[in-house]
Amino acid sequence: MRIVIATSNAGKLRDFAAAAAVYGVDIAALAHFKSLPEAVEDGATFEANARKKSELYSRYAPGELVLADDSGLAVDALGGAPGVYSARYAAMEAETVTAGEDVDAANNALLLCKLADVADAERTGRFVCVLSLAVDGREVASFRGEAKGVILHEARGGGGFGYDPLFYFPALGKSFAELTAEEKAAVSHRGAALRKMLEWTRSESP
Ligand code: IMP
Repeated sequence: MRIVIATSNAGKLRDFAAAAAVYGVDIAALAHFKSLPEAVEDGATFEANARKKSELYSRYAPGELVLADDSGLAVDALGGAPGVYSARYAAMEAETVTAGEDVDAANNALLLCKLADVADAERTGRFVCVLSLAVDGREVASFRGEAKGVILHEARGGGGFGYDPLFYFPALGKSFAELTAEEKAAVSHRGAALRKMLEWTRSESP
């Protein structure tokens, strides 16, 4: 089986390809991805946004199984925010973003600010990843993975990206930014969704 990924992110492509190889699944990049129109990510859920992307991009690779993903952080004390707005959380409250600050730092600063008065026991949340597979403009399956954790009071660790330094994973006693790539793949929302998808490919293979 072969899956074409709708991403321009070399890191994601590498991660997916390494995990998929174990299942005998070939992973390819969608040709000319950067020059294709961007999907409008205005869905209310991760599922809706992942589906919009897979259905749009599968039209550019006729007959191929095309994979798209959507992910983010949902914090319980914030009613699930930043959720589908995780990538642009601080940008939506522009006054909190100072010139020259990077997007991840601004998002993390806003999250800490919103949780300033929230007690430790209430600082629970989860990373969510949804993978959607589509063929010729129609979704054929989708898979959700989650990782539960606690939002720290300050950043810990130098690895990862996004909200990783603030996301404490109790089972390993570390923040996601303190995990090796292998550890993160084993426990993360993305790893969980990916394994579900690969199990599906196994059941669909002749
Ligand atoms: P996207 O699905 O690649 O668009 O990611 C959405 C946003 O969610 C990212 O920009 C990050 O802020 C956040 N996010 C998603 N997955 C992770 C993760 O594994 N670690 C840290 N932040 C993440």
